[in-house]
Amino acid sequence: MAFSKDFAWGVSTAAYQIEGGAFEGDKGLNVWDVGSMTEGRIFEGHRGDVGCDHFHRFREDVALMKKLGIKHYRLSVNWSRLLPHGVGKVSEEGEEFYLSLLRELTDAGITPWVTLFHWDYPYELYQKGGWLNGNSPAWFEEYAQKVAVCFGQYVGNFILMNEPQCFIGLGHGSGAHAPFLKLPDRDVLRCCHNVLLACGRAEKAIRKICGTDVKIGIAEAYWPALPLTEGDYEVAKNETFLNHRSFGRTSLWLDPIVFGKYPSDVLVWMKENDFVPPLRDMSLIRSKLDFIGFNTYSGDYVTVKEGKTVSVTPAPSVPKTDMRWNVHPDCMYYGPKFLYERYSLPLVCTENGVALTEWKDLNGKILDYSRIDFLKRYLKSLSRAADEVPIQGYFQWSFIDNFEWAEGFSKKFGLVHVDYETGERTLKESANFYKSVIASNGENI
Ligand code: NOJ
Repeated sequence: MAFSKDFAWGVSTAAYQIEGGAFEGDKGLNVWDVGSMTEGRIFEGHRGDVGCDHFHRFREDVALMKKLGIKHYRLSVNWSRLLPHGVGKVSEEGEEFYLSLLRELTDAGITPWVTLFHWDYPYELYQKGGWLNGNSPAWFEEYAQKVAVCFGQYVGNFILMNEPQCFIGLGHGSGAHAPFLKLPDRDVLRCCHNVLLACGRAEKAIRKICGTDVKIGIAEAYWPALPLTEGDYEVAKNETFLNHRSFGRTSLWLDPIVFGKYPSDVLVWMKENDFVPPLRDMSLIRSKLDFIGFNTYSGDYVTVKEGKTVSVTPAPSVPKTDMRWNVHPDCMYYGPKFLYERYSLPLVCTENGVALTEWKDLNGKILDYSRIDFLKRYLKSLSRAADEVPIQGYFQWSFIDNFEWAEGFSKKFGLVHVDYETGERTLKESANFYKSVIASNGENI
């Protein structure tokens, strides 16, 4: 069992979750800046206004990454920091912030992987209808062009979007995330289509500007079905790619991009909602992806009972993380295998990690041995998968404790602890472990 020699070991973050600086300079507002101002939406009224203050402390953060031997860093650009109005004029201050960060990373020998959109949708565009507006794909294309022009000289890996499952499903369907909408399926399906058109247009725009060497992918929220027994392999794979009228599954988002077609269960669902995707749109949506990014934290076991696929309730002995997600390391083996068998594209684990209930002890240490155990279990599984299918990298979520959306700062995912009063950073025990994983190319797991 071995990871390839050039395997990309990295860490992930996202702009709204760590940057802060929400009202600095000419930055425009986004739906999280505004949405979190309403009481009752976010745990104990937490907001990302200051967050980890990465906006001011990014040099210190890059230095910590360097110290840990981290070679790859996945970050996201805050759309309305670069384009305060969502489209139009580039903010000089916004551009300068990301250029300074990218230079700092380059000088530290760290390769940036830039996500264009990790949920912080510009508020001005939202007021025009956001993803419901038929112009939204063109707005995103313009933004992508500007990101490519401003930062292309430093960035060779772009991730078009992070988890459309969540910003559409939770943001526009269930109302748990910004912009906190509870739209009917008919409208949410149109948002999906616009998001996919936006991806297609952005992919083509970035390639035009950055040329043939650039690598472009997408990061999916991917929660595969897992076979309870080896005999359930095909059953679990099939279940993984069904949609069940949910925005949270996988093939709704990947089939159109990779194959230029919606899966048949989605077409039925769309038809029930009077939507027939125009053929010319499908050729625009279809894109060349250099890799599929999967954000995977767990999966659900399935089996067959009386001829039906059923999901299996985990035994009480199965450990649960602080998110109440089951510790099911098998997701890192079967998940990538199913993806590769369906899409035949290289894979990158763009997120994986664990939230724990933990705090700094009286000696000032965070001895997060459960996180180390979690990483060992999940990486062993990933390494098994990497023997069978092309997996190019692994990004630990997260480099640093941060704003976990509706859960505020209550969930701790970081390798680095943050004191939100003082901004002080402290390495957790798991940070040292991850350092040794990187140094040994995964041999020590
Ligand atoms: C999914 C999201 O991409 C990220 O923003 C979130 O914090 C983690 N996974 C953990 O829930």
